Amino acid sequence: MVAAGLLVLSLFSLALGRPTSDSCDDLHVLRSRSAAPRGFTWKQKATAETMLNLRIALVQNNATGVESALYDVSNPASENYGHHLTKAEVEAMVAPSAESVQKVTAWLGKNNITATKISPAGDWLGINVPVSKANALLNADFSEYLVDKTNTTAVRTLAYSVPETLKDHLAFIYPTTHFIEPAQKTTPSFQIVDLPSTSKRRRSRRAAVPAACDQQITPECLQALYNIPTTPASAKGNSLAVSGFINEIANQDDLNEFMSVLRPDSPTGSFNAVSVDKGITNTKSPGTVEATLDIQYTVGIATNVPTTFVSVGNQNQDGDLGGFLDIINFLLDQDAPPLVLTTSFGFNEIGFEQEPDLAVSLCTAYGQLGARGTSILFASGDGGVSGSQSNDACNGQAFIPTFPSGCPFLTSVGSTQGVKEVAADFSSGGFSNIFARPSYQDDAVAAYLDKLGNTNAGLFNPQGRAFPDVSAQGVNFVVDVGGQGQGVSGTSASSPTFASVIALLNDELLNAGKAPLGFLNPLLYSTGAAALNDITEGSNPGCGTDGFPAEAGWDPVTGLGTPDFAKLLTLVTGSAAGSNAGSNSTASATAVATESATATASSAAASTTTTKKGHHNHKNN
Ligand SMILES: *[C@@H]1O[C@H](CO)[C@@H](O)[C@H](O)[C@H]1NC(C)=O
Ligand SMILES: *[C@@H]1O[C@H](CO)[C@@H](O)[C@H](O)[C@H]1NC(C)=O
Ligand SMILES: *[C@@H]1O[C@H](CO)[C@@H](O)[C@H](O)[C@H]1NC(C)=O
Ligand SMILES: *[C@@H]1O[C@H](CO)[C@@H](O)[C@H](O)[C@H]1NC(C)=O
Repeated sequence: MVAAGLLVLSLFSLALGRPTSDSCDDLHVLRSRSAAPRGFTWKQKATAETMLNLRIALVQNNATGVESALYDVSNPASENYGHHLTKAEVEAMVAPSAESVQKVTAWLGKNNITATKISPAGDWLGINVPVSKANALLNADFSEYLVDKTNTTAVRTLAYSVPETLKDHLAFIYPTTHFIEPAQKTTPSFQIVDLPSTSKRRRSRRAAVPAACDQQITPECLQALYNIPTTPASAKGNSLAVSGFINEIANQDDLNEFMSVLRPDSPTGSFNAVSVDKGITNTKSPGTVEATLDIQYTVGIATNVPTTFVSVGNQNQDGDLGGFLDIINFLLDQDAPPLVLTTSFGFNEIGFEQEPDLAVSLCTAYGQLGARGTSILFASGDGGVSGSQSNDACNGQAFIPTFPSGCPFLTSVGSTQGVKEVAADFSSGGFSNIFARPSYQDDAVAAYLDKLGNTNAGLFNPQGRAFPDVSAQGVNFVVDVGGQGQGVSGTSASSPTFASVIALLNDELLNAGKAPLGFLNPLLYSTGAAALNDITEGSNPGCGTDGFPAEAGWDPVTGLGTPDFAKLLTLVTGSAAGSNAGSNSTASATAVATESATATASSAAASTTTTKKGHHNHKNN
């Protein structure tokens, strides 16, 4: 395990010491709002000594360059398809100008504040200052607000200013006027289940889907449903990463038992854990349900693809949004970032809408990683049209899209269920209020809107980026937590599953000397659609409505459909099954767990059907 820690790339030396002239600069109000939104209650002024960890976003040189470069290397029709950018090329686009760096650091220096570069391109600076100093520096009024949903405290201000001379250089500062509810990690409600036994006999390709897959999902079910090979991946340089927030961790003993029971053809599997923001990396620690699902259905499906769990800790006072910034900057700092990244956490977009710059900045960061060749997948959320979790606050009002699924530079994954697949009703989908519809999905979305007619008119933004892009099974995934079988549901199960399919496709591509898939959507919405199983039944109710109906073609419940590995392989390699998709073995793919899970299942314990490994008593070491 590698403890990477918080990204701290370098220190600026700021001993400029000119004690003057701040007072001479006219202040420019950078952001202000009249009140905190619903869900945040003013408690009291923050005490002068409270330390704030503020992140300063500098204006990027050429943020639109990232977008055009991303499409240029991701569109199969482009001559540059697969010619992913280098770290230096991407950084050159998002780096701030030398003038911006000089002006902002000089201003901080005059105030005896030392900034730390917290993104590899230098477009983010971090400062640590007490509230008294932040209030003076920014003409702010930092106060404590109760976050109703989580009963935690957020320190925020309703307005802040910077010198007029900085307004074209300093984009915004976080957290200041941002009132965003934490990424809800609803503890999955799950039920205890037996770990079903899986035959050791290797499954032939195109084997019938076991009938039990209607009740619960195992790796064998996903392999059969989606033609996923069971043979071990073998390409050098292949990789898959799973994000976890707030000290989620998966336990290696649980994984061992899961593999021995549910992948008897390939009974071992491991992962590497790395830390961001002091996240837990001890894989002997008791596993949490989300991380367990995510790891067991990545390692368990993407057989033998080197898999890393990126564990983000909880050291940011602002909860997990700071962790979202830190993990992407951590990955962007790597010379060889993971080729596939799956994340089963998300936010309601509504908290970002008043000041979209934070969402745009994160989205551009995903675009940077995509331009370098990483396929980024996010679970779409589990609240149907009512947001990342089921929520009746929107009854009679506009639907609540989720973030980051509304970002056009990543692939959002919804959920299905059943052997004859239909939409899972919790599958979040809809239309962003921040991001416009990207051209790659124009035709697919326009066709859907035509069919939809006036249904839900006024409750969503028909011009917005539409999601999810694709889907996969998401109901009642069997996992092993602490030696006990549990059935877990949610789009958290779907994103790891789809990510594992992509990792196995990358394996074939790398073995053939080709580039990995990178940003998937331009491929999926063009030639890729025919290699997916179109899901045409079901809907995603919420906000007191029936939500959106699934339809032939793309829909905002199941996207373009679920994967068919064999067809996708033919598409991406231009040939029939490659060496890893042979008929003689069993392979697996990866799966990830969902944020919110509904669980099901029957009875307890692997012990009745399988070998106990005696890891019920995890030591917390
Ligand atoms: C911005 O990046 C694009 C590449 O996507 C490049 O063609 C363009 O010249 C860049 N513009 C500037 C001003 O650097
Ligand atoms: C910065 O520190 C110097 C030396 O300690 C002090 O004289 C000066 O007043 C400080 N300036 C500000 C703005 O705090
Ligand atoms: C909220 O947190 C406070 C202090 O952290 C605690 O005293 C209070 O009981 C909590 N309220 C609820 C409803 O959990
Ligand atoms: C069958 O699988 C074994 C072990 O994975 C491998 O060595 C062998 O080459 C495979 N045979 C074919 C025909 O793919």
